[in-house]
Amino acid sequence: MGMVVFRNEPFSNFANPAVRAAMEEALMKVKQELGRTYQLVIHGNKIRTEQLGVSINPGQLDQTIGRVAQANQEFANRAIESADEAYRTWQHVDASDRAGYLFKAAAIMRRRKYEYMAWLIYEVGKNWAEADADVAEAIDFLEFYGREMLRLDEVQPLVPYEGEDNQLTYIPLGVGVVIPPWNFPLAIMAGMTTAAIVSGNTVVLKPASTSPIIAAKFVELMEEVGLPPGVLNFVPGSGAEIGDFLVEHPKTRFVAFTGSREVGLRINERIAKPSTEQRWIKRFIAELGGKDGIVVDRTARVEEAALAIVQSAFGFQGQKCSAGSRAILHQDVYDEVLSKVIELTEALQVGDAALNYAMGPVIDASAYQKILSFMEIGKTEGQLVLGGGKVEGNGYYLQPTIFANVTEDARIMQEEIFGPILAVSKAKDFEDAIRLFNHTEYGLTGSVFSENRQHLTYARHNMHCGNLYFNRKCTGALVGVHPFGGFNMSGTDSKAGGRDYLLLFTQAKLVSEKW
Ligand code: NAD
Ligand code: ALA
Repeated sequence: MGMVVFRNEPFSNFANPAVRAAMEEALMKVKQELGRTYQLVIHGNKIRTEQLGVSINPGQLDQTIGRVAQANQEFANRAIESADEAYRTWQHVDASDRAGYLFKAAAIMRRRKYEYMAWLIYEVGKNWAEADADVAEAIDFLEFYGREMLRLDEVQPLVPYEGEDNQLTYIPLGVGVVIPPWNFPLAIMAGMTTAAIVSGNTVVLKPASTSPIIAAKFVELMEEVGLPPGVLNFVPGSGAEIGDFLVEHPKTRFVAFTGSREVGLRINERIAKPSTEQRWIKRFIAELGGKDGIVVDRTARVEEAALAIVQSAFGFQGQKCSAGSRAILHQDVYDEVLSKVIELTEALQVGDAALNYAMGPVIDASAYQKILSFMEIGKTEGQLVLGGGKVEGNGYYLQPTIFANVTEDARIMQEEIFGPILAVSKAKDFEDAIRLFNHTEYGLTGSVFSENRQHLTYARHNMHCGNLYFNRKCTGALVGVHPFGGFNMSGTDSKAGGRDYLLLFTQAKLVSEKW
């Protein structure tokens, strides 16, 4: 029987009372499970440590989501050794069996999707729809990468050559260190981890410090589907304590990282220098930050453009690498689009994610302070037209904030703030708008709203970003539909959720036999 064709997991319709009830029930159920302690997992063994990290709800600061054991360098070393040992057998497991673990995990995750959403809502402050999209994307990655491995395992076409039998196969690399961010703490973490595993590698997973519990839940899921010991090792810990150690370890063959430009560049530098025992050039799969934007042409459908700007700038409080933190408006529609954007943003209510407010908290105290300081910087660089400060509450709540008339070199036009701040700029004409869009060291996502075909063609050729969208928002890439990754300082353009992705976790081997 053939494989069912991949289809994206449908989003939940919360207007349906039964779906709302399921979500509310899951929130109550998970609430009873908050506050537990999670251990390291090394070679299938649960390991307690004296030091515990605490994960709290950023929107209810007295609510502990869980405590998690913290690995030191000794445990990090054990985890690498465990992955190295498991690699000896895991690399020879049939690709179809490896894919089978992912399909089983997808089925269970789908069955319990509201519970996974509830963990995301509590741990990182996603509203229901954002949590739903994160879980759907995680399921998609499992289903998609499973199928991708089956495709890579097929006979690969080569030019026939008389007198020879030639075969090309994709074999794994070895032990991988996977370091995900907190902002898609299920989808990106599960995607990078399972892409590595299904390709025949073994993994040491170091989750982000602000979202370790959802990662622990995923590790439990992979145990439940019977993944052999050592294939996935779980070592929460601070980046400062074990980060360099893990990536510099001579048995680390590759690092899959998604996170900030600063940490990504540091890892890139550290893994470039081989240690004496190291036998390979380490591979680095890195997806970094963004300073994404939406260009609105004078011919654009204004209502749609304004809605997309608001969704892209303020979805999950602007904490997406794909967030449209810049809006570049043609001078002829500038006032009209800006006033519509302000009107739509004014309607966004800020509050507890569990109660499904449009906007929840930002992730932690340091993000909160950083964003507040950018609000002050913005006041000196542009015209504050909305927001600009805190929102009362027992968490890190901030107003959605808009600065108008921002010039191209302003810090709020150049630096990734990773919060609910939108900088709006005026362009003289369409070409000027594209020039302004490209005036950044990043190159992740961008959108253009235009009804002018020549302008869209011009944008297609001249806008330099990995994911370029026309007449739609610049967030919300779908697995398989919009392979995701960026140019320049946004990373190595790995195109997660695309047909090239597993190639990054494999190496192609050619065997030629003369008759
Ligand atoms: P971050 O760089 O602070 O942390 C990312 C991960 O690196 C975390 O797990 C962290 O614990 C770890 N880390 C920190 N210091 C380390 C060190 N010295 N060595 C090894 N690991 C270390 O990023 P973040 O705050 O978790 O995530 C937000 C960033 O991620 C933003 O810049 C965002 O744009 C980016 N991001 C990019 C994509 C993408 O696909 N391009 C997707 C999501 C997030
Ligand atoms: N893949 C996520 C998006 O497109 C980050 O918004």
